[in-house]
Amino acid sequence: MGYRVAVVGATGNVGREMLAILAEREFPMDEVAAVASGRSTGTEIEIGDSGKMVKCKNLEHFDFSGWDIALFACGSEATKTYAPKAAAAGCVVIDNSSLYRMDPDVPLVVPEVNPDAIDGYTKKNIIANPNCSTAQMVVALKPLHDAATIKRCVVSTYQSVSGAGKAGMDELFEQSRAIFVGDQVEPRKFTKQIAFNVIPHIDVFMDDGSTKEEWKMVVETKKILDPKVKVSATCVRVPVFVGHSEAINLEFEKEITAKQAQDILREAPGIMLVDKREDGGYVTPVESAGDGATYISRVREDSTVDNGLTLWCVSDNLRKGAALNAVQIAELLGRRHLQKG
Ligand SMILES: NC(=O)c1ccc[n+]([C@@H]2O[C@H](COP(=O)([O-])OP(=O)(O)OC[C@H]3O[C@@H](n4cnc5c(N)ncnc54)[C@H](OP(=O)(O)O)[C@@H]3O)[C@@H](O)[C@H]2O)c1
Repeated sequence: MGYRVAVVGATGNVGREMLAILAEREFPMDEVAAVASGRSTGTEIEIGDSGKMVKCKNLEHFDFSGWDIALFACGSEATKTYAPKAAAAGCVVIDNSSLYRMDPDVPLVVPEVNPDAIDGYTKKNIIANPNCSTAQMVVALKPLHDAATIKRCVVSTYQSVSGAGKAGMDELFEQSRAIFVGDQVEPRKFTKQIAFNVIPHIDVFMDDGSTKEEWKMVVETKKILDPKVKVSATCVRVPVFVGHSEAINLEFEKEITAKQAQDILREAPGIMLVDKREDGGYVTPVESAGDGATYISRVREDSTVDNGLTLWCVSDNLRKGAALNAVQIAELLGRRHLQKG
C-alpha cells in the first residue's frame, strides 16, 4: 500500500521536478494529484518521463482530506491560505516557500544534516524545506562541522535564474535573444538586465543593508546546522539557467587540512567531491543540472585566518535546493512516522 501525494504548484519549475523525482525514486504512491492555480485547471502534466499524465486540479477547490502528504511549491501567498487547510485536513505539508522556515513549531529539515528535527512536525503538521542556497551549503558544511567545528562561514553565491521561477528563466532567454537581434532589453522579473550581467540583489532589502536572501542563509543555517555558527552571505543572481554555485570561506575551532577535508567530503552523504587541481578538474553549474548531488571542488587552505578552508560548492537548485530535498523529507517521514502497509 502506498501514499496519496498531492503536488501543489505542479506546473512550476519546482513542482515539475517534484513529480519527476517522485517517479525516479519510485516513491510508494497509490495516487498522485497535480494541483496549481485556476489558470492551469485541466492542463495535462507528465509525471517525469514516465508517460503517465495527470490533469491539473485547482487548489482553490482541492479537498486535502484523505491525502497523506502535500508537497507545496506555489509561493508564500497561496501557501499561507492553503497549507493550514491541508494540515488541518490531516495531510502532512512539506513546504518549499519561506513562510514557515523560521517558525519554531515547524521543523526545517535537510535529511543529510538534521533528520531528527522532523519529529517536531506534529505541532502544525507542516515541515519546511530550506532556501535553495542554504540547502546545498549545509550539506557541504555538516561533515566539516562535525570534524572541526565551524566558527564562521563567509559565502558568496552565484545563483541561477531558475531560482526565480519560470518567469526568471523566460527573462534570461528573452533578453539573450533580444541582445543578439539588437532589440531593446526590458527588465521585468529582475531589477536590472540579467543576460550577460550579474545582479547583487535577490529578494527585498532589509534594514541593515543585506537582502532577505542573505538573511535567509544566515538564519536557516543556524536553525539547521548550529546556532553558534556565524554566517555572512552575499547573494548574486547570474545568467545561468539551472544550478547554484557558492564560494565558501570557513574558519574552524580545530585544525583541519585541505587533505583531511577532502577525505571527509568524499565519504559524506549527498556529496560528490570533484577536486582535481588541473584544467576542468572542478564542477560548474551546467554539469550539476538534473542531478541530485552537492558537488564540492577547489578545497584549499585559507592562510588568512587560523584553521581556514575555502571551497566551491555547486548543486541543482531545483533538485537538492527544492524538489529532491522535499521528496527526501517525504521519504524520511514515511520511514519514521507514516508507515503504510
Ligand atoms: N526555484 C527554486 O530554486 C526554489 C528553491 C527553493 C524554493 N522555491 C520555492 O518554491 C516555490 C515555487 O517556485 P518555482 O520556482 O517552482 O515557481 P514557478 O515556476 O513560478 O511556479 C509557481 C507554481 O505555483 C503555482 N501557483 C502560483 N500561485 C498560485 C495560487 N494562487 N494557487 C495555486 N497555485 C499557484 C503556479 O501555478 P500556475 O502555473 O497555475 O500559475 C505554479 O505551479 C516558491 O515558493 C519558491 O520560493 C523555489
